[in-house]
Amino acid sequence: MCGMQQSRFRYRAVARKIADHIHTGRLAPGTRLPSVRRLSRQEDASITTILHAYELLEREGVVEARPQSGYFVRADPDRMPPEPKESQPPLRPAYVEIADTVSDLLKITRQGDYVPFAAAIPASELLPVRQLQRIMAAISRRTDDAGIHYDLPPGNPELRSQLSRRSIDWGCRLGPDDFIITTGCMEALNLGLRSVARPGAVIAIESPAYYGILMTIAGLGMQALELPTHPSLGVRPADLERILKRRKIDACLLAPNFNNPLGSLMPDESKAELVELLARHEVPLIEDDIYGDLHLGETRPRTAKSFDRKGLVLLCSSFSKTVAPGYRVGYIAPGRYFEKVEQIKFMNTVATNAPCQIALAEFLRAGQYERHLSRMRESLSDQIQSAAAIIRDTFPAGTRVSRPQGGFVLWVELPPGTDSHHLYNRALENRINLMPGLAFSNSDRFRSCIRISCGHAWNDARRAALAKVGGIAAELAPKNSAGKKLAKKKS
Ligand SMILES: Cc1ncc(COP(=O)(O)O)c(C=O)c1O
Repeated sequence: MCGMQQSRFRYRAVARKIADHIHTGRLAPGTRLPSVRRLSRQEDASITTILHAYELLEREGVVEARPQSGYFVRADPDRMPPEPKESQPPLRPAYVEIADTVSDLLKITRQGDYVPFAAAIPASELLPVRQLQRIMAAISRRTDDAGIHYDLPPGNPELRSQLSRRSIDWGCRLGPDDFIITTGCMEALNLGLRSVARPGAVIAIESPAYYGILMTIAGLGMQALELPTHPSLGVRPADLERILKRRKIDACLLAPNFNNPLGSLMPDESKAELVELLARHEVPLIEDDIYGDLHLGETRPRTAKSFDRKGLVLLCSSFSKTVAPGYRVGYIAPGRYFEKVEQIKFMNTVATNAPCQIALAEFLRAGQYERHLSRMRESLSDQIQSAAAIIRDTFPAGTRVSRPQGGFVLWVELPPGTDSHHLYNRALENRINLMPGLAFSNSDRFRSCIRISCGHAWNDARRAALAKVGGIAAELAPKNSAGKKLAKKKS
């Protein structure tokens, strides 16, 4: 990691060190923390770094600032709501039926005048808008015919070279000729599914899963089999192994790095075990790595693809969450299915938008992507922490909330029996948009869950809006838990 990035993340390292001392009991509840000046000397860090570290811990609810006295360990530092429970879906494949409901939800998302907790789209302020505009302007001034003609599959060679270089970060050593450029990650997933399976096929997915995946499976006439999914560890290979002993699965479509909506991260050993297990059964894995670059921990996690020896993993991603959703540029590294994917890509959309491919290739070539990502991850991390703190303080007792390790959404499990669709309608009346849990499963098992996107910076109006959602949830929660705020109950 470069020096600039190290200093940018320094405040987080200091915050984590203090949090460790608190969680292991070396700093007891109520203890006064060193003054900002003293800690800055001790840590050999700037005053601003220490202030940022204390502010982060305050937002996380671990320390509190007392006027004129400094920072103190909170009396109840562990009072974040617990994580959601591991899902236990019915393990029966079924044709997907939620497409119409989700289409209706998405129509509202397109209207601009709602507080935007629904769509997992990063705010423009987080994206490199000016740099991309400059690059696009330069492309349009070129005197050759750049971007005018079809960039037929596999797509722009410079962009594929840049992806090849980046693949080392994912634990892979892919060459430019291992990639096919696609129209976003959705097309990559769609091509992947069509290349490995036919209508009626059984596709194993996480539960909850991104509704776009469910809709794609529905559109292709395939069946979804939802797998038990741990909120922070994702799918466990042992569960899949048990299922594979009993029934045939035609393909898996998983997001080992930061499932949307859980933000779960499969440990590397699990990824290796998963790839090996699927290889034994000759089952292809379509890996959705769209959030892989938005890790909130220090290091970029490896992909499942990096453990692939048989060409059975089809790695899919895009620049939609990190650079420019509107450019619609994604990619697939389809292993042994390369020719098939290339052929279907041509039949599907002929080629991907050529100027946008050139612009992204240039953005990557100029070395701007890493710098941009490190800034973006820092903002997203802060935005998630702030949202979690508001949920902790304003949602009813019995609420559970995810601890995303990447991406920028929070998965909130409301007290059992709370109808999140009702909550969604009440939120809309208040001009607040969010995603109710029913969009993330084919088995309607997340009725009491919502997904909150943290893609926008917090301001007073957004803070008040999320607190309002908490207030409505408290009204709708069954009697035994309604009305009590998490913070009040536990303090
Ligand atoms: C997990 C996941 N996969 C794929 C997509 C679609 O990506 P794209 O916009 O690049 O098609 C999204 C977008 O929200 C997503 O969250």
